[in-house]
Amino acid sequence: MLRVISALVLATVATAKENGMALTPPMGWRSWNLYGADVTQELIETIMDGMVDRSRTVDGKPTSLCDLGYCDVGLDDNWQKCGSYGEKGYTFHTDDGAPVVNEELFPDMKAMTDKAHSIGLTAGWYGNNCICAENDTDEDKFYEGDVKALIRFGFDGVKLDGCGSQLNLELYDDLINATGKAITMENCHWGSAPPFEPTLDWCPWNFFRTSGDVRAAYGSVMENLATTYKYADTLLSRPGCWSYPDMLEIGCDHGPGGDDDTGLNEQESRSHFGSWCIISSPLTLSMDVNNATVMDSVWELIANPEAIEVNQAWFGHPGGPYLSSSENITLEYDSYVAPSYQYLYKPLSWDGSKVAVLIMNSEVDERTLDLKFDDIPGFKGEKGVKVRCVWGRKDVGQFDDVLEGVEILGHDARFFVLEK
Ligand SMILES: *[C@@H]1O[C@H](CO)[C@@H](O)[C@H](O)[C@H]1NC(C)=O
Ligand SMILES: *[C@@H]1O[C@H](CO)[C@@H](O)[C@H](O)[C@H]1NC(C)=O
Ligand SMILES: *[C@@H]1O[C@H](CO)[C@@H](O)[C@H](O)[C@H]1NC(C)=O
Ligand SMILES: *[C@@H]1O[C@H](CO)[C@@H](O)[C@H](O)[C@H]1NC(C)=O
Repeated sequence: MLRVISALVLATVATAKENGMALTPPMGWRSWNLYGADVTQELIETIMDGMVDRSRTVDGKPTSLCDLGYCDVGLDDNWQKCGSYGEKGYTFHTDDGAPVVNEELFPDMKAMTDKAHSIGLTAGWYGNNCICAENDTDEDKFYEGDVKALIRFGFDGVKLDGCGSQLNLELYDDLINATGKAITMENCHWGSAPPFEPTLDWCPWNFFRTSGDVRAAYGSVMENLATTYKYADTLLSRPGCWSYPDMLEIGCDHGPGGDDDTGLNEQESRSHFGSWCIISSPLTLSMDVNNATVMDSVWELIANPEAIEVNQAWFGHPGGPYLSSSENITLEYDSYVAPSYQYLYKPLSWDGSKVAVLIMNSEVDERTLDLKFDDIPGFKGEKGVKVRCVWGRKDVGQFDDVLEGVEILGHDARFFVLEK
């Protein structure tokens, strides 16, 4: 079964977006959850310093976020100067199609991206904005003006939101392609139907949002996660075209969601990070990387090289659930109904000999579950399976048929790598 899938995906990869970007899930940081509309060039440049800071370690070695792979710094909404321009009163474009930057807050975009590049980062921009969304700019000159600015300002990527009237992602892709610069494109159309969803031979962006905005609440994280599942077995999430249930809320309290953002405790943060890793989601941090309290509390999790390795691996399937409880639980956020427990997997080899498994417990109370090899695709009847704990980064042992009695705290997840 897995081998058939692999051959199919190899064929489809050749027809996915061919800009050479995002061959593994992109990793970085983006401004929305931390700053919302209150973002400035100075704040972004301070975040850049935090992303290359090596005051923390992995296995005793000074390591920065960028050393781990989180190297893209993304500016989100509200760089624009909202007003009324040109004959028709465009809100942040002039008559000739150029976007208008708020130069009080962003005095020099090019200097900002130059700084990113000078310290080994890439820089992402943001378009088709939600704040003072344009409602009448679906003419080529506006797309052309945006793409010219994207290149002139020196950005390496762009998130294209769904709020304004510039909804033609293929046109953006064509114009960007014609510049000759490979730009990582994010389709932020919240899981809307075609033309914002890829097909097996069409994907003019590098990753696509499958849901509305995530909040710092366990129910929201679970709800957004599940929106990726339909793209997993259909192989619509693949190298160069990843499904994406939004940024990581780890280390974020009370973000733009206000009262809905209750924050995530340690167990919930593990479930969030582990599930984003195992489904090959882009990993976009959004906490204050310069706040020592926040960073100390999340470092071990987001800097776990074995979890990141699972995320970045590609062996023909992006990862998804293989077993869900028939019992459900209604979570607080949005009254979202989740399976009481769920098992996710992702292949880690072409011959089916190695897989990652994440077991999630959505109940409030601790529980004990068995990991039966018969249930795991390609592991039926396996004996002598080597099991490694990803969170603990240590071998658990060798087992026949089952790993019994896996204890999982409420809202927590256990993460394993299994090898035949
Ligand atoms: C432009 O598109 C062509 C055809 O898909 C691709 O081979 C090329 O790498 C693209 N160039 C850039 C800069 O994205
Ligand atoms: C765009 O918004 C302006 C101001 O609210 C309004 O006057 C105009 O009719 C709108 N245009 C379209 C195409 O919706
Ligand atoms: C750092 O984060 C902690 C925990 O969220 C918060 O209480 C504190 O105010 C933050 N410090 C700064 C300087 O932002
Ligand atoms: C749990 O939810 C699933 C998916 O919505 C549904 O198919 C199933 O019937 C539910 N189980 C129970 C016991 O209600």
